[in-house]
Amino acid sequence: MLAFGIMSLTLESELSYFTEIAMLAESCGMEVFRFIPSHINPHSLHVKGKKFDSKRKAWVSAEFPIPSILYDRCFYGEDEHSKQCLPIVSWLKNQKDITFLGYGLPNKLELYHVLKNTPLSPYLPPTQHVQDAKTVIKELAQKKKVILKPIGGAHGYGIYSLKKNDKTFLVKTEKQKQMVSRIFPNEAKLHKWLESLITKRQYLIQPYLELVTNELEPFDIRMLLQKDEFGNWGELGRGIRVGNSGGILSNLSAGGTCKPFSEWISKLPKTKAEYITEELDYILSELPHLLENAFLPLFELGVDIGIAQNGSIWILDLNSKPGRKVLLQTRPDLKDTLHMRPLLYGKYLSQLEHLERKNTYEKTLSH
Ligand SMILES: Nc1ncnc2c1ncn2[C@@H]1O[C@H](COP(=O)(O)OP(=O)(O)O)[C@@H](O)[C@H]1O
Ligand SMILES: [Mg+2]
Repeated sequence: MLAFGIMSLTLESELSYFTEIAMLAESCGMEVFRFIPSHINPHSLHVKGKKFDSKRKAWVSAEFPIPSILYDRCFYGEDEHSKQCLPIVSWLKNQKDITFLGYGLPNKLELYHVLKNTPLSPYLPPTQHVQDAKTVIKELAQKKKVILKPIGGAHGYGIYSLKKNDKTFLVKTEKQKQMVSRIFPNEAKLHKWLESLITKRQYLIQPYLELVTNELEPFDIRMLLQKDEFGNWGELGRGIRVGNSGGILSNLSAGGTCKPFSEWISKLPKTKAEYITEELDYILSELPHLLENAFLPLFELGVDIGIAQNGSIWILDLNSKPGRKVLLQTRPDLKDTLHMRPLLYGKYLSQLEHLERKNTYEKTLSH
């Protein structure tokens, strides 16, 4: 049976998702294991983790060789454990006999620099690396409102909106689903705060886009693309995430809610709805191959699109380890497909690997 391994940073993370996948594995002739990268024994190359027992429909503790197909669902932070696991995962990615479903994407800034030179550049909010506090103050003087995001950030963490009034500056962020705002009475005070913010982590700056519904709630469109059992990209579905009224984030982890895409688009005037649909289809048709040409192979891709009040369409964020909540809540009919896809694509990859090895073997024989 083909061994399918899932990696995460804790054994609790996404447990119900992994269990749903594991329940379907037997029907695909596969066995599912999950483990934490730091639990690999560097000498034996075995790992202590959990194996899914299909008869008992339960996870059992086990020690096993590293599975040859790996689904990486590690979400790194800035903690010690993340720092320990990251190089192990990089090492695994370089092993010839191990295949990852997807090899991940670089940080937001690198993504921007690559996509800026493609036909998708008109959809990218102008983005700059924040080298120093002056960059931010200069942008604020011009644009009046900007957003700062950690270049390696995710889940809406550490995002600030900044607004310049006559003399004062208003800085807002969302912490634990609460809006926190602070007024800086002058530029010098803001400068000092910015300097300390950017020494902690690297930030990028973008103009603040009014990505709000008519009720002034921040919202975005989240689409999920995945490869199927033949290795072809396709869209699984799309949904709308709505944040708190007056808030800055529409991330679900920041307290957002979701609604079906069809419900949202059906309320728009026909020509606007058609225009948006065409634009979204175009973006989705271009993105996967542009990313895979520039970086490494992927299995899935979460695409966040913002639509500004003036109708302009923006690619906000690309996630190589996307969540499934928006889709599961708005399209419960997709549940089985969603859970089957990683297995089917893993199987496809293993057959491909097998073929490639066979070809290499045959080539060596003929020489
Ligand atoms: N330039 C922007 N203007 C206005 N709102 C933005 C902008 N960029 C991001 N946002 C809001 O912040 C949220 C999180 O930003 P995103 O780039 O997706 O970061 P993360 O990786 O933390 O999810 C978005 O879903 C959107 O609601
Ligand atoms: Mg995001």
